[in-house]
Amino acid sequence: MSTSLSHSFAWKELLQHRQTFINTDLNTLFQQSALRAHDFSLSVAGIHLDYSKNLITSESLRLFNALAKQQHFDAARLALQQGEKINNTEHRPALHIALRDRVTPSLYIDGVDVINEIKLAQIQMTQFVEALHQGRVHGATGKTITDVVNIGIGGSYLGPKLVVEALQPFWQPQVSCHFIANIDGSESREVLKKLRPETTLFIVASKTFSTQETLSNARLARDWLSRHLGTEAIDNHFVAVSSNNEAARAFGIKEKNIFPMWDWVGGRYSLWSTIGLPIAIAVGMEHFQQLLDGAHAMDQHFLLAPPTENMPFLLAMLQIWYGNFFGAQSQAIIPYDFYLRSLPEYLQQLEMESNGKRVNQKGDVLEEQTGCVIWGGPGTNGQHAYHQLLHQGTLLIPVDFIFSLKTHNPVNNHHALLVANCLSQSRALMVGKTLEQATDELIKKGLSAQEAQALAPHKVIPGNRPSNTLVMEELNPTTLGALIALYEHKVFSQSVIWGINAFDQWGVELGKQLSADIYQAMSQKNDVSAHVDASTAHLLKLFKDANHF
Ligand code: F6P
Repeated sequence: MSTSLSHSFAWKELLQHRQTFINTDLNTLFQQSALRAHDFSLSVAGIHLDYSKNLITSESLRLFNALAKQQHFDAARLALQQGEKINNTEHRPALHIALRDRVTPSLYIDGVDVINEIKLAQIQMTQFVEALHQGRVHGATGKTITDVVNIGIGGSYLGPKLVVEALQPFWQPQVSCHFIANIDGSESREVLKKLRPETTLFIVASKTFSTQETLSNARLARDWLSRHLGTEAIDNHFVAVSSNNEAARAFGIKEKNIFPMWDWVGGRYSLWSTIGLPIAIAVGMEHFQQLLDGAHAMDQHFLLAPPTENMPFLLAMLQIWYGNFFGAQSQAIIPYDFYLRSLPEYLQQLEMESNGKRVNQKGDVLEEQTGCVIWGGPGTNGQHAYHQLLHQGTLLIPVDFIFSLKTHNPVNNHHALLVANCLSQSRALMVGKTLEQATDELIKKGLSAQEAQALAPHKVIPGNRPSNTLVMEELNPTTLGALIALYEHKVFSQSVIWGINAFDQWGVELGKQLSADIYQAMSQKNDVSAHVDASTAHLLKLFKDANHF
């Protein structure tokens, strides 16, 4: 059965409204109203969003609002807040909001007060982090722990890594954090070779404690430790964060060293939970709490503000607008902030694992395009790489630019130059350069009319390309928490409009299954070509021959 979103009244109205922008461009919209930048901006929790450089009018906002109403946006955000089992394929709520809620006294899910569970876990985290920072955590030989390695992947890696990196100016000096995610042995090798077993502690971070990469890397770390300090050393050098106590204990981690995780937190929404342990270790529990408070401020805004004044909803609708009505297939995230360099990678999982879905909650195949490709990297580096395509390529790629008003590193005029670059990119995308302007410029430079005519088409920049600019007062735990929660709620808002479940990820299972089969086939001496396709069989043979399997 196909769905009827495209045939719905609110959707059709938007399709009709799309026609407005065949003849109206961004430059004209700015000329028409001196108040445009003011009217299409809003500030929440230390983040200012200027969305005026988008192909929208006040009528667009009215229609976005109508779509929100039609798709029961209010009811959906209430269901999220109240812990309803909105992850319907796994029969679970998605309670990341509860993780940063210090106001609600209790929230019962299946007879358990999750607020109390969260508090107890935070007390366990606080005690451990304080002990580490005070040098009271010792390895098997009595030496103080100085290095912590987080072994985890996906949501058990990307969020903690983003935040630890982003908050480098807040790092506590006592302990250094490292990450191992990839099954590629080179990553473990390169991390471990810098560390001393006597002073290293491993966090095995896996909600399920069944992820192949994490378990393989944890075994490797355990072997490395045992080789140097003996098998008993695991007690002093391993802790786990998991909802699967049994598996963590079977691995050899003592009950008292297991930090609880819960079914009701999705992996990619889990940095606020005990999965955030490396964050708390890196920056201290007080800063971790500020991160939660920043996210909570954004939660309150998201839950209460009407759609047309709701920052996450507006970001969501703008991406839907370009994806579903203008044919855009990707969204660039370009932070002009070195500390936010991992944001695009983090948002890839958040957005693409959440909204990379082809059926709605009922299982009906969607007619509409859903989650798009998220990509990007830090400015200004990208300007010397892929911005050419943003300016003159044939694809429409909306951009989120992000910068901070204040820098942690005021060296020479670098921050002003950085921000000037950021502002010039969004402006260049919008204003472009006409053939006439390009020709005039060349003639002024002394080219002949004929030369100018030949070169000018290459210099034309169509412009009229949309972007958002997100301005943070400064990058600190509070604003970072708000920024991440902003994108979480953006993703949720989109899922509500498309009618999909943003909290499962069945698509990743087939690859895991096939990888197990192929791995089996590698160790078999016999010919496995009958069980796989010809391409895979050929590639497998190349590998087996090279490695003498
Ligand atoms: O394979 C995808 C995934 O399930 C992600 O959703 C999750 O964040 C990641 O693997 C890691 O899972 P775990 O924390 O259970 O090891």
